[in-house]
Amino acid sequence: MRFGYFDDARREYVITTPRTPLPWINYLGSEAFFTLCSNTAGGYAFYRDARLRRLTRYRYNNCPLDSEGFRIYIKDGESVWNPGWQPVQTGLDRYECRHGLGYTVIEGEKDGVAVSQELLVPQGDDCLLMRVTVRNDGKTEKKLRLFPYVEFCLWDAMDDGSNFQRNYSTGEVEVCGAAIYHKTEYRERRDHYAVFWADRKPDGFDTSREAFIGVYGSPARPEAVFGEGCTGSAAHGWQPVAAQQFDLSLAPGESTAILFGLGYIENPRDEKWAAPGVVNKKRAEAMIARYAAPAAFDGAMEALRAHWDALLSNYRVSSGEEKLDRMVNIWNQYQCMVTFNMSRSASYFESGMGRGMGFRDSCQDLLGFVHMIPERARERILDIAATQFPDGSAYHQYQPLTKKGNLAVGSGFNDDPLWLIAGVDAYLRETGDWSILDERVDFDNDPSLAQPLLEHLRRSFDYTRTHLGPHGLPLIGRADWNDCLNLNCFSEHPGESFQTTGPSEGPVAESVFIAGMFVKYGRAWTEICRRLGLEDEAAAGDEAIAAVEKAALTSGWDGAWFRRAFDAFGKVVGGKECEEGQIFIEPQGMCVMAGIGKETGEAARALESVRERLDTKYGIVLLQPAYTRYHLELGEITSYPPGYKENAGIFCHNNPWIVCAEAELGHGERAFEVYRRTAPAYIESISEIHRTEPYVYSQMIAGRDAPSFGEGKNSWLTGTAAWTFVSVSQAILGVQPTLDGLRIDPCVPAFLRRFTLCRRYRGAVYEITVENPDGAEKGVRSVTVDGLPIEGQVLPVQPEGARVSVVVYMG
Ligand code: BGC
Repeated sequence: MRFGYFDDARREYVITTPRTPLPWINYLGSEAFFTLCSNTAGGYAFYRDARLRRLTRYRYNNCPLDSEGFRIYIKDGESVWNPGWQPVQTGLDRYECRHGLGYTVIEGEKDGVAVSQELLVPQGDDCLLMRVTVRNDGKTEKKLRLFPYVEFCLWDAMDDGSNFQRNYSTGEVEVCGAAIYHKTEYRERRDHYAVFWADRKPDGFDTSREAFIGVYGSPARPEAVFGEGCTGSAAHGWQPVAAQQFDLSLAPGESTAILFGLGYIENPRDEKWAAPGVVNKKRAEAMIARYAAPAAFDGAMEALRAHWDALLSNYRVSSGEEKLDRMVNIWNQYQCMVTFNMSRSASYFESGMGRGMGFRDSCQDLLGFVHMIPERARERILDIAATQFPDGSAYHQYQPLTKKGNLAVGSGFNDDPLWLIAGVDAYLRETGDWSILDERVDFDNDPSLAQPLLEHLRRSFDYTRTHLGPHGLPLIGRADWNDCLNLNCFSEHPGESFQTTGPSEGPVAESVFIAGMFVKYGRAWTEICRRLGLEDEAAAGDEAIAAVEKAALTSGWDGAWFRRAFDAFGKVVGGKECEEGQIFIEPQGMCVMAGIGKETGEAARALESVRERLDTKYGIVLLQPAYTRYHLELGEITSYPPGYKENAGIFCHNNPWIVCAEAELGHGERAFEVYRRTAPAYIESISEIHRTEPYVYSQMIAGRDAPSFGEGKNSWLTGTAAWTFVSVSQAILGVQPTLDGLRIDPCVPAFLRRFTLCRRYRGAVYEITVENPDGAEKGVRSVTVDGLPIEGQVLPVQPEGARVSVVVYMG
């Protein structure tokens, strides 16, 4: 069942009922100011850091869900409604929500009054704009009241949700004309405030929640809206809000638009005050002035569209397969931008408080983003690398605002260092900008420890090389990619973190997955060394890699698939002798992607085992059989009920590894089949089962052992976005950035007989046509560039500004 439809021409998903299975959200903003906005205008806004600079309040786990947001109340006689249906939930005569790239438009209609609420974050500015247009479609004059309403958060979202003895006394506001200034804590150490404004003078306002909503009222029944209107309240402590009242009178056919804004303003310390106790509003007034002209909102929308046109023109396919094109050209790349911006911090499943930027997560996000804005990828790489420890290991997370490692989560996740090589390698392949390796970057954010980025990569590689266990496989530490495989934890007490309990670096527990990574990204490292003339280092590195590869094929091989790990007692995890958890997806994907066992048959056998044991109609589950009881020696993975999360859920993130692995072996049909099964556009028609947004990937789909088999959770912020983009753009469609240029090597299902691609790469445009007359799955017969045949499959790098036409024949 569907709850809307894709409008590809406008690059929108159009939701036709507010009663979606879960709130379906969008992200507005892609630079510093961000807003999460649901299909009913629920959500919240923050500047850079969803924990430390949250502007508006959001109560996760509220009932009903999604009660807070950017609310517009319409009072038409006795009837009160919202164009987005929530929170009053009055039935509407018409409802539509269009989530587009960086904007959302919600339209509601009732009793001849049509209201549209358009929300966007303008490029280059730190504010949310919301244009509300009210039209009288009836035959008689309408007298209406319109109220916008947002609830301020007291900046630090964690503190806001816990420290009530203080916070109930700190709230402060100022009202100045059509603007409400939220200045809690500005009197002391904050140099920033928020401003909510309208582009015309309201007929009333409230800044105290108690006054607007009522102590025992609710957003679904605000006293001011249902009663006599706003009271001009001033918040002193408690819960500051911005509410305004506009009394409108509209003749038949008449419409009126009000522009609202919610901005974040930072003042230099010595310019904080206009007068004692009065905030300096100069910057806020300048912001308000920027959007004062009636055409300003449309201008901001135009600029946003142009921005996305440019971004999406870096990779565009036309295959004749509508759903494939829609995912590749629009939604997958859009999600890559969002995950790049957010890492795993703020979604409707990630509270914005618990996790900042993940070291491994952000490195992987780069893989799907680097082709869009390489300069931002460059900056991100340097930020991430600066949180690395001098021994090559890494903080597992860092805060986006401070860019400092987050001690609460600690370190010792032994896959982390290798992901840095993966990210930098992707950057070099995309840009050819070798100068990044010379950039001096701190270790542990300490400038006195700064070294060239190249040295960071060396220490990443060496960390794994020097942390091998009894079988010659890499030690797992606290966990590897699978955060829940905690082989050194042994937690028996509720509330202990599985990730920080126990010794961080057990000397025995090993990971076959990291072995695969070491082979794959280790080779990337030695290739970099070679290009820099570090021949001896490259040769020594290759030797270390060969030894780990051998270990993966011996101790790491179970007979029909790659084992997952060895636990702290040296016992196999993910082998046929295991009572539960006999086979895991991760090492099959990573080892085959690394080419381990490709020549000798193990790779193909491992992928057959995946198909035989892990396939389901909704995707490939992470492991089988699911763990049915808690295993002290395995940790969090066995804490989940069977079929959920890492315990045999369909973890969408590693499905594309199988796509890449199948493509590595030339299996185009199978690669596409695995791709298709979890791709949102392909499962839109089962939205009542899948439940999360049909335009983006979710981290997890409940596996076949779960009662809710097929149900998605944790949408948006997942490495699935980047990895799926890699799998479809590089492995299936076959446009692969290499250090020497674009390599063309598609691996497709037989039905794809012809497709065209437009790829912008290092400043030149490649118009690529792939002809596959015989329905080959893989193999390239010939390549021409502007009509001239070339040797091999790597397109010569074109000068900036060039546009070439490439024809590839498969077969
Ligand atoms: C984390 C990833 C991790 C994955 C599997 C996600 O929630 O963000 O870092 O690789 O779970 O455990």
